[in-house]
Amino acid sequence: MLEAFQDQGYVVFPGFLDKAEIDTLKAAVDRHVSAQPRRHAYEDEHIGALIWHPRVSEMVDELMGGRYVFHHIHAARHDAGMEGVSWHQDYEQYPQTNRSHLMVHVFFYLNGLNGTIGDLLFVPGSHRFATDSHALTFLGDSDLPGMVTVDDVPPGSVLIVHSGMWHARRAKPGGEDSPRWFVDASYCQSGVRWPSYRASGMLADLRGRHVAAGGTRPWLFDESQFFDAARARELSGSLEGSVLLDLPQWKTP
Ligand SMILES: [Fe+2]
Repeated sequence: MLEAFQDQGYVVFPGFLDKAEIDTLKAAVDRHVSAQPRRHAYEDEHIGALIWHPRVSEMVDELMGGRYVFHHIHAARHDAGMEGVSWHQDYEQYPQTNRSHLMVHVFFYLNGLNGTIGDLLFVPGSHRFATDSHALTFLGDSDLPGMVTVDDVPPGSVLIVHSGMWHARRAKPGGEDSPRWFVDASYCQSGVRWPSYRASGMLADLRGRHVAAGGTRPWLFDESQFFDAARARELSGSLEGSVLLDLPQWKTP
């Protein structure tokens, strides 16, 4: 599994969650998508607890090979007729220059994928090349050389992908009788600071809930490993030339 992940950038666990977990999470996602006013997915008791799901954590532990931090969790219900998503990648970095540390996305397909509503597309190996996420938008969801289509996985399947992997969702007809319940959670390897949009309140809240639930991984929610992505986004618009020249190693050879 580890070798395949290093090389290809993904690993698939068909039917990973059990029936009770699937049912609880589907109900939670339904509540989340219809909540007014809108709330963040992490605020839901069950969606939040998925962040430290014991068997998922074991897999992420293996891939990270050491400490890491939680980045975000999103939940959505894809109903029939849902639009697709163009090719992009979700590795967080300003500017995109390297892939020294691992960031992963864990995709939960609560009732699987069956070729209706939307297929997951990705290009194995594409995670090795630092690419601005928006650079790929012009490709839409067109076929790319070597791409893999995921359109047949059973309920409760989990995919872990390198966040820098190019991926898309291709809209498909059908699915009027059954939407796709989808959750994605993301984690970043410790050792560098990562961009985040709302780290402080979210992390403190989750850390408290995790510990209250008997969790032993408060280090997942360490604010000090993040910086403000909004500020970074602003500043990255004013970069000039080769930013490598600003490194202390370059200044004092
Ligand atoms: Fe994505």
